[in-house]
Amino acid sequence: MKVLLCGLIKGGCGKTTTSVLVAKQLAERGFKILYIDFDSQMNGTEFIALNSSVEPSAYLEKNIFKAIQEESLKENIIMLDDKIHIIAGSSWINQFELLMNQKKVKDRHLYIRRLLGELVKQKDYDFCILDMSPSLSALNTSVQAAASHHIVTTESGYFSLKKVPEYINSIQSLQKRYNVPSTILGISICLLDSRAAFEKKVVATLKQNFNGLVFETIVRRKALLKSYTATGYPVKKYKKDIVALAEYSALTDEILVRLKMKNNKVGV
Ligand SMILES: Nc1ncnc2c1ncn2[C@@H]1O[C@H](COP(=O)(O)OP(=O)(O)O)[C@@H](O)[C@H]1O
Ligand SMILES: [Mg+2]
Repeated sequence: MKVLLCGLIKGGCGKTTTSVLVAKQLAERGFKILYIDFDSQMNGTEFIALNSSVEPSAYLEKNIFKAIQEESLKENIIMLDDKIHIIAGSSWINQFELLMNQKKVKDRHLYIRRLLGELVKQKDYDFCILDMSPSLSALNTSVQAAASHHIVTTESGYFSLKKVPEYINSIQSLQKRYNVPSTILGISICLLDSRAAFEKKVVATLKQNFNGLVFETIVRRKALLKSYTATGYPVKKYKKDIVALAEYSALTDEILVRLKMKNNKVGV
């Protein structure tokens, strides 16, 4: 099981949108996904579960806070359909440090990785996709350390750009200090306003500084993609949906190439 984290310590740069749309795209290619929402805002949970038969009240019974409290991810899984299962977010997740204190956990940066270990061994899923909040917290360090593969997700604006090296350093320091094995799969640029000359410069700078790491596919700002957060991922796709999702489809293909995985698992 590959554990993917779309991360950056910055809000509004497309982390949740990328994690949900890549999860949906991978599921359409036949892969089995577990999506875990570590953000107390629960945007990823709401987005991914729209158009499913699961009622939001289900998240009160099973969620990531309970999973940590009860030390069982498995017991807190909610099945959206046969390909996508989730562990819903919880507004209580910000109490992570308190829970760690109560449980007297010393190496809390490795806690989520250990918790995921059971699922990694059981091989029920091809991918586990994690969504994180933008803060630098003990929880997010633990989420970062749980990932096997990082997709650094940045918006094309200056403030996000500045956060990219800082975020990459934080991953590398986890790799070095605590011997946490992981791979930085790539940098994904989202929310590009293709008419702005400044944004083109930002892309060029990123490509210059992180040669080879930046995904070729750049996701442009599109009103239809934004509207999916209210209407849900389209079950039946019209031409306009296929056009709107084309970049996320191409990004997913690039991710699979970098992972050296076959694009369509069905029939393999
Ligand atoms: N490619 C896109 N086109 C239009 N709107 C987008 C796009 N990607 C994200 N958004 C919108 O931008 C806002 C921030 O995106 P989000 O994925 O929630 O970022 P983050 O999780 O990093 O805070 C949301 O309102 C989302 O719907
Ligand atoms: Mg988010």
